[in-house]
Amino acid sequence: MTDNPEQYRQWTALGIDITVPHSARMYDWWLGGKDNFEPDRALGEAFMAAIPNIRAMARENRRFLGRAVRHLVAEAGIRQFLDIGTGIPTEGNVHEVAQALAPECNVVYVDNDPIVLAHARALLVSQRPGSTAYIHADLRDPHAILADPALTKTLDLGKPVALMMVAVLMLLDDDEDPWGKARVLMDALPSGSYLALTHPGQDFDPEAMAAIKELAGRAGLTVVPRVKADVARFFADWELIDPGVVPVNDWRPGSETVMLSDEGPAYYWAGIARKP
Ligand SMILES: C[S@@+](CC[C@H](N)C(=O)[O-])C[C@H]1O[C@@H](n2cnc3c(N)ncnc32)[C@H](O)[C@@H]1O
Repeated sequence: MTDNPEQYRQWTALGIDITVPHSARMYDWWLGGKDNFEPDRALGEAFMAAIPNIRAMARENRRFLGRAVRHLVAEAGIRQFLDIGTGIPTEGNVHEVAQALAPECNVVYVDNDPIVLAHARALLVSQRPGSTAYIHADLRDPHAILADPALTKTLDLGKPVALMMVAVLMLLDDDEDPWGKARVLMDALPSGSYLALTHPGQDFDPEAMAAIKELAGRAGLTVVPRVKADVARFFADWELIDPGVVPVNDWRPGSETVMLSDEGPAYYWAGIARKP
């Protein structure tokens, strides 16, 4: 699985199974990262056969993350972030973007992949010691995330928090109730908090999305693209800010956003809402 037996031994000791594909590592590969293995690349390529633009889409998703954090800090005055489904650290991690604008920002990262845990140190190097924390936990158990001492030490839940769920909710099946899981986290946050999310959209290309779901399932991964109305349901009664739930490239595009005509649309819905 890897040319380097020593590395293989280290990964295995950390509980990282590199014999099966994983969403974090496949996404890392699409973004041009190095923390991925043959099964991740094989599934990543199979996805690309169904959606040739998938790498550009992953980049667009990542660019949204940056725009969202900049908006939340600069326009909405947010200084605390809870980032669920962090991913393998790459360019523009939440605390880097946030602290570049406001060094007093605090960020708690949450992911359930041991390889992200293995890289967590990169997320903890911040301008102010103690301003970031990493929790190895699962979105399917939101109460455990909220009760984790690293969260309560780093975030003041009496003050607004931006909950980031960027390209993660599709990794929970309907019967795992991702809406309910998100709601537990949302309910723990005070008025003035925000939810920012992206989600692959079933409605952009139903046939290609069905192929993705099927390929993932065969490889033992859950990937559930959803239609716009089901994505909008995540925001519940929170107030969507302009422009609402839109294709990810259309969410307040900046100079860095690739023109749709260059690479085609990114099949992700995106939105940000404020808790009343
Ligand atoms: C596609 S990546 C998105 C990374 C980052 N949010 C971004 O948009 O650039 C999805 C991440 O969610 C993590 N993840 C998947 N299922 C999860 C779960 N049940 N709980 C927590 N994290 C999860 C994966 O390990 C992966 O790192």
